[in-house]
Amino acid sequence: MPILGVEKLIYGAEDVKLAVKFHRDWGLNCISNDERGASFDLIDGTKVEIYSADNNTLPPPKINWAPWGASTLREAVWGVDTQESLDQFVNKLSAQREVTVDAAGVAHTIDDFGYAIGLAVSNKRSVKIPKPQINNVGYYNRFDKPSPGVFRVQAQPYSFSHIVYWVNRDPRKFIKFYLDFLGFKVTDQISDGSTFLQADGCTDHHNLFIQYSQDGYEGFQHISYEFKDFDAVMMLGLGMEAEGWKTNVGPLRHNIGSSLSWYIWNPAGGVAEALTDQDQLSDKWKARVVNTDKPEFYGHAWVARKEHIGISPAQWTDD
Ligand SMILES: [Fe+2]
Repeated sequence: MPILGVEKLIYGAEDVKLAVKFHRDWGLNCISNDERGASFDLIDGTKVEIYSADNNTLPPPKINWAPWGASTLREAVWGVDTQESLDQFVNKLSAQREVTVDAAGVAHTIDDFGYAIGLAVSNKRSVKIPKPQINNVGYYNRFDKPSPGVFRVQAQPYSFSHIVYWVNRDPRKFIKFYLDFLGFKVTDQISDGSTFLQADGCTDHHNLFIQYSQDGYEGFQHISYEFKDFDAVMMLGLGMEAEGWKTNVGPLRHNIGSSLSWYIWNPAGGVAEALTDQDQLSDKWKARVVNTDKPEFYGHAWVARKEHIGISPAQWTDD
């Protein structure tokens, strides 16, 4: 019963207009925007929906760290391969917790951390792009033409990569729900118990990261979007800053998962991450327990701006 990744995000935002502008600037395709809320498409057909934070049809907010006030993710919907798989998930979950299925066929429940999640048959499209032609030393693939990166375009995210939640207790005691009921597997773990999880229909290093907050934070932390290449991440980040959005940290290269990333504060809630070149993992991958106190795993492999050295995703700074 494969889960194919994040299918839809549902936000409750204090300032819907601002959140809509952010997502337009982020390169999402706006498919509706009226008094009920706004809806956006990624290139692969997955979705973002934004409603007012006081919309009482949404699952309640669960957040105790709040750079954006009441704005936060209210539900993460995971995409499932078939209706048959969805029915199997619903039967299995219903035996041990409350599950409701709405008129559109989306199942809703609460995970063991208290976060609202949904399960829906995926509408994700497979997207084909031309093979990259990069000239690395000894591997010259592009002759007699300039790099596509010289053409300035609006960068657009192709798909969701992963969701990150803060939790205020050891995640190892609560990830069983994702492992046993939803078929995720652990791909890496930090020595404090923070856990990277991969959905069974994906090869991304992680689709979900549960981060243990020593400061007692709970709540949605960030959503990560996959962009075509590093040019796209750079154009996106520079374009967002030109529109006045605040960088959290980046650009940088992560140690765990290897992605090239740029994080921007998101007025719909938390942070949005643009990434590319993340590790893809097969069944041969052996999960590590990583001590991030060790110098080789401290911080990031590199960070472009020296004021971001030692800054973590979702760490507020006044610079
Ligand atoms: Fe991330």
